[in-house]
Amino acid sequence: MTTDAAYRALESRYSIDLYPKRELTIVKGDGATLWDADGNEYIDCAAGIGVASVGHANPKVAAAVAAQAGTLLTCPGIFYNDIRAKLLERLVTLAPDGLIQAFLCNSGSEALEGALKFARHATGRKNIICAMRGYHGRTMGALSATHKKEYREPFEPLPGGFTYVAYNNIDKLRAAVNGDTAAVLLEPVQGEGGIRPGRADYFKAARALCDEHGALLIFDEVQTGFCRTGALFACEHFQVTPDILCVAKAMAGGVPMGAVLAGKRIKSLRGLHGSTFGGNPLACAAALAAIDFMIDEDLSGQARAKGAALVEQFLANKPARVRDVRHLGLMVGIELKERVQPFLLALMDQGVLALPAGPTVLRLLPPLVITQAQISRVVEALHEVLTH
Ligand SMILES: Cc1ncc(COP(=O)(O)O)c(C=O)c1O
Repeated sequence: MTTDAAYRALESRYSIDLYPKRELTIVKGDGATLWDADGNEYIDCAAGIGVASVGHANPKVAAAVAAQAGTLLTCPGIFYNDIRAKLLERLVTLAPDGLIQAFLCNSGSEALEGALKFARHATGRKNIICAMRGYHGRTMGALSATHKKEYREPFEPLPGGFTYVAYNNIDKLRAAVNGDTAAVLLEPVQGEGGIRPGRADYFKAARALCDEHGALLIFDEVQTGFCRTGALFACEHFQVTPDILCVAKAMAGGVPMGAVLAGKRIKSLRGLHGSTFGGNPLACAAALAAIDFMIDEDLSGQARAKGAALVEQFLANKPARVRDVRHLGLMVGIELKERVQPFLLALMDQGVLALPAGPTVLRLLPPLVITQAQISRVVEALHEVLTH
């Protein structure tokens, strides 16, 4: 048995079976390159599912984590902390105007849970309008907002008050929002739902409807946030500021972290919400280093340029089985006329790791530091695999 296979057997033996696994044990990374346990090299277009935007083993993040680990690892929210204070200031300063405060947590789902509680608390209303094909996570509240029935039904009863309306459809949204609506919850680009960018007029209409009815607008930027789409936050593309903005994934360079940024309508919930690990100094130090790197290296600009280059190179020779290509920055979806899974495995044989987004969409979320040479190799592998 190879070393790689031995680790696969060990992990399978002792973990609860949750994930459709690929036959690969990843042990090391650098930038957009990963290595398996047998020393084989891959170009990573999965990035931990949109996490490793600053690159694997980013030296700035690694140094900040090492320094913080030797200083202070944990400090609950009942005390103040130097590094947490600095991160909160940095986040709110960088956030769109109007987002003036933040709650720090540990994942995307946890950010959504916080957002939903904050919205109900602030409005005194229960109903949440979400989008068809929307994905917001696996915990009970986030799952309630997630459209896919197959994910929800085995775990019912879930929290109530959630309805799903067609995405990018202003009339359907107008018909759904009323004086009982606590919040409208939307992804700026639907990620798991197939890389479907929302339209600016749709988000502007959502903003206006929320204002008209006293509801809150929540953007789930867990996947789109922190430069992925070519802006620090995707909502900057269409100049609409939500009342609540959820982020996670790329925020701390790979260290688990999430956050809820909020406007002035979110009032004190002292004693009503919290998290033991939320805002721990280790994750805060990692986030500060990752965010500095994103700004210093203009990862937004890099995402714009590299996303455009990748799509242009790919479309220069579009394989016949491709139905559509959608992207915003380096969030890329290639919709096929057939199921995507076999092509993901064929790409892996070519040394490229990619993701699905639903049954027929091939999703690319590479680290934003991916090199032009790596992009060319990825496009070559895509052409090879999708043409034969
Ligand atoms: C838009 C969106 N929201 C929420 C989540 C849930 O995040 P997590 O897996 O960190 O709980 C995800 C994860 O893919 C996501 O893409």
